[in-house]
Amino acid sequence: MQQYIKDIVKFVDKEVTIKGWVHNMRSSGSIAFLEIRDGSGFIQAIVSKNEVEEGVWEAVQKLTQESAIEVLGNVSAHPKKEGEYEVQVVSLSVVQIAEEYPIAKKEHGPDFLLDNRHLWLRSKKQWAIQRIRDVIISSTYSFFQERGFTKIDTPIFTPNACEGATELFSIEYFDEGSVYLTQSGQLYLEAAIMSVGKAFDFGPVFRAEKSKTRKHLTEFWMMNAEMAFAEHTENMDVQEKLVQYIVASCLEKCPKEFSILERDIAPLQAIAQPFSRLTYPEAVEKLQKLGSNITFGDDLGAEDEELLTKDSVVPIFIHKWPKSMKPFYMKQDPENSELVLNNDLIGIENAGELIGGSQREDNYDALVEEIKKDGLEGPEYEWYLDLRKYGSVPHSGFGLGLERMVRWVSGAQHIRETIPFPRMINRVKP
Ligand code: 4AD
Ligand code: MG
Repeated sequence: MQQYIKDIVKFVDKEVTIKGWVHNMRSSGSIAFLEIRDGSGFIQAIVSKNEVEEGVWEAVQKLTQESAIEVLGNVSAHPKKEGEYEVQVVSLSVVQIAEEYPIAKKEHGPDFLLDNRHLWLRSKKQWAIQRIRDVIISSTYSFFQERGFTKIDTPIFTPNACEGATELFSIEYFDEGSVYLTQSGQLYLEAAIMSVGKAFDFGPVFRAEKSKTRKHLTEFWMMNAEMAFAEHTENMDVQEKLVQYIVASCLEKCPKEFSILERDIAPLQAIAQPFSRLTYPEAVEKLQKLGSNITFGDDLGAEDEELLTKDSVVPIFIHKWPKSMKPFYMKQDPENSELVLNNDLIGIENAGELIGGSQREDNYDALVEEIKKDGLEGPEYEWYLDLRKYGSVPHSGFGLGLERMVRWVSGAQHIRETIPFPRMINRVKP
């Protein structure tokens, strides 16, 4: 049995066994300082030559970075750093001596680190980012389960496009011909809510998008949520509460991780207040005043998103976009037939688009028309149209990009650091 570094505070003045890896080490004369990690955290272990058996001191001399060890020692409070602890080693045994570790303390370029992603994951900052990712995932589950949503698993092989036909990965599926890797579970969740009322999914999605930015992956994780009888405004209300809930959970559970990442948490603390809401026409007007050359009908570029949010302490909803820019399933705005009842949620601190959502077209004829306009008509959409034949109701939902959220909350520069094994246009290894 071993004790875990995360629980170390419970063992002050007691003996513990820690099983882990040598993250770092230095020696000065008859004292060796080992920084040990065990998966749950990092701790300094001190070996004094005069206080351990000779064999232990000899073993310590052979240790290398990333060697696997078991340590028996006494826990004490760190003499200088408040809230930190250290272990005075009584005994130490080697599980494996690591070969010379390719990721040294010096700076490495991103390509080298990505080629060694299987090892890079052990670095302190990468560890902290994955821990934050885990809290974002588990708090998303709690948020929905506390509110009566049922988790529904949507398929990955799909016969139809959800988000535009140009960004699909297609594969040959036995005798069925081409099928696609899903871009979003939304259409299937729409079917599921007619059974369970409110549903969410959480899984990998794929975009054959040629975007090479700090915010795009070709494989990423999306959380979709869908609600029967919910309309446009309520949809945004739920998104706002979800983002606030996730951030509050991270602030509560990840203080160590934020400190490792040197993440200033003040901007995260400020988002507990209501988010701003601007319609697309209002946003375009505001951007033009701020000096952007955007015109009505243009997508917001990264600079526009930056310009719009730079003086905001909260994320901004941009809602009611031109119909012509958006996919077939979004419901027309009853007050302006040129617009749809959708929203993007643009994060602060250059987080970019965190969420995309909309009220869905629930009228059969209108939906048939829109599917045709997008050039997507065909038998693959019949099941989706069926939902508008049998008890069709107003309904809305949204999709949150997990890695976008992790990137923002952790303060990571590039989205490639937010997923354990990133897939981008020019990278599918390791
Ligand atoms: O805005 P998107 O394309 O919306 C949908 O897929 C809807 N079907 C969701 C729904 O209504 N249920 O994607 C949702 C989110 C974006 O807001 C963004 O956060 C993220 O997914 N996203 C990406 N993240 C990483 N890499 C990419 N290439 C992404 N594309 C979208
Ligand atoms: Mg979008």
